[in-house]
Amino acid sequence: MSHQSVLLREVISNLQPKNGEIYLDGTFGAGGYSRAILESATCKLYAIDRDQTAQKFAAELNKKFPDRFVFLAGKFSDSERLLRDKNITELDGMVFDIGVSSMQLDDKSRGFSFDSDARLDMRMDQNSFPSAYEIVNEASEKELARIIKEFGEEPKAKQIAKHIVMARAIQPVSSCRDLAEIARSLYLGYSKTDPATRTFQAIRIAVNHELDELKSALNSSITLLKKGGRLVVVSFHSLEDSIVKNFLKEQSGAKQTFSRYQPVLEQQNSHKNFQIISKSAISPSEEEVAANPRARSAKMRVAVRL
Ligand SMILES: C[S@@+](CC[C@H](N)C(=O)[O-])C[C@H]1O[C@@H](n2cnc3c(N)ncnc32)[C@H](O)[C@@H]1O
Repeated sequence: MSHQSVLLREVISNLQPKNGEIYLDGTFGAGGYSRAILESATCKLYAIDRDQTAQKFAAELNKKFPDRFVFLAGKFSDSERLLRDKNITELDGMVFDIGVSSMQLDDKSRGFSFDSDARLDMRMDQNSFPSAYEIVNEASEKELARIIKEFGEEPKAKQIAKHIVMARAIQPVSSCRDLAEIARSLYLGYSKTDPATRTFQAIRIAVNHELDELKSALNSSITLLKKGGRLVVVSFHSLEDSIVKNFLKEQSGAKQTFSRYQPVLEQQNSHKNFQIISKSAISPSEEEVAANPRARSAKMRVAVRL
């Protein structure tokens, strides 16, 4: 299945592309946001993706917009360098659609989906190392428990880590199904969410350093966005959304630490780099979720560089 862009209308109406301006789509994917940006104004767009398979979608857009679209292969944590190499140091807007694409999830050989006999992999960038296989089979029990707890918010992280270590003492935990079954074995008789979901999310985040990547992208928006430039971030789980929310709170001067020893006013951040546009996160409409269930957990946050 090709990727259905999430919150597309809302992303464009908040990014507000204008003729002659310069934008970055930090998570190109199948190019849904990029195409809409290029169609909504005669602007220039740079797009980044670390997945080599995104390049065939980029080639299509290149044909249609040869003078206005530039694809940069790499990580969005490297945005500043990738753009500097093209003599770009300032942007009018940046958009990030954090997470995996449908192409990545649906291609069983990429090892993201639990009901598959494919080798555990989960790398967005197929040239990176380690993959999920090495993490699951080589990390210590303690490290596995930390990953599963921290990135999966899994209450039974310690037990799952222990079962992984017991299983791999007999033979490697090599397929997606092998890992899913270990997680499920601790939740016999579950009814709602598949218990493998949290463990898979955790390992995927660890493989792709997803939270550090996001933090670094947010920090680079301070440097790259011009005054008045817009930052639009769509994310899909609470760990990511709280990173975005806290970053924006801090950068808009709203963060308070509530120490008993300091008056509240003094605790406010004096560096106001952003103004938050909508106080609470924007979610997809019911119609969008009905048409695309993968959109259901999406949250969008928007801010303007001061
Ligand atoms: C949800 S998809 C984006 C879909 C896109 N908005 C569209 O409309 O087609 C996320 C994409 O971001 C890429 N990605 C995730 N983290 C990345 C990172 N740190 N650096 C570069 N690309 C990343 C993934 O490879 C994936 O293709």
